[in-house]
Amino acid sequence: MHNINNIALYSADSELDELVRKKSEQYQIELTTQPEDFAYYLAYSSDNAEPGFRCSLHKTGKHAPGALLIDFTQGKAAHRRQFGGGRKQTLARAVGIKASYNPRILDTSAGLGRDAFVLACLGCEVTLLERNPVIYELLQNGLAHARLDNDIGEIVNSRLRLIFSDAKQYLQQLDTPLAFDTIYLDPMYPVREKSAQVKKEMQFFHDIAGSDVDADQTLEMAIALKPKRVVVKRPSSAKPLANRAANANVSSKNTRYDIYT
Ligand SMILES: C[S@@+](CC[C@H](N)C(=O)[O-])C[C@H]1O[C@@H](n2cnc3c(N)ncnc32)[C@H](O)[C@@H]1O
Repeated sequence: MHNINNIALYSADSELDELVRKKSEQYQIELTTQPEDFAYYLAYSSDNAEPGFRCSLHKTGKHAPGALLIDFTQGKAAHRRQFGGGRKQTLARAVGIKASYNPRILDTSAGLGRDAFVLACLGCEVTLLERNPVIYELLQNGLAHARLDNDIGEIVNSRLRLIFSDAKQYLQQLDTPLAFDTIYLDPMYPVREKSAQVKKEMQFFHDIAGSDVDADQTLEMAIALKPKRVVVKRPSSAKPLANRAANANVSSKNTRYDIYT
């Protein structure tokens, strides 16, 4: 679940030393001045805009890919927002978006925040939960950066809320009536052997977050809360979580969404 042993925090600018020291204490992740001694390091560098720093994840070693930094304003995220298929795309249909209805969504597996960002751009309010401190830091920083953007700042500010929590603990303390219409799960699944070609993000994810072996339990807890729907994102060929047959599915090329209503 938490593969954060061979990773350290690194302050790339002396003005951030105190901030990074506090984070190291908070998350119990080692602070280093020799980042190359670790398999991974999370670097904090000064930035002119609020909150004053950018957070990036680096893999060390000879064939390491470039750093991972979350930026909703450029690249794939921006592209998917503009050209991703709108309200008819599979993700939107799976979570229950209709012509004039935007469900309130609890995303129990925030990750890089991509799915949540797409849903927010379509009009949904999304609460995101992330339990891995490294991924949480990257995403929190990516969202802070996006809030300042002229095009998407307002969307991120008003519709996306990130919480550092394990989903099981969060679900346990929810009051009824539920403040969410849809509970969404996109757990990590075990890596297949031939994974040499997996993309940079997936490699980072697998090394840092590991597989989410408790996803069955999260699904059962989510269903017990009786929201309008619970949606699980799975690889097309994977068995349903907890071996629980879904009431409906929506599929795209490599992905299947199992829907429990
Ligand atoms: C496959 S990624 C999700 C990707 C995400 N849907 C996106 O679009 O970027 C799974 C993420 O969920 C987190 N996660 C899994 N189970 C969780 C739980 N029970 N509570 C909180 N976070 C969880 C993992 O740490 C990991 O960052």
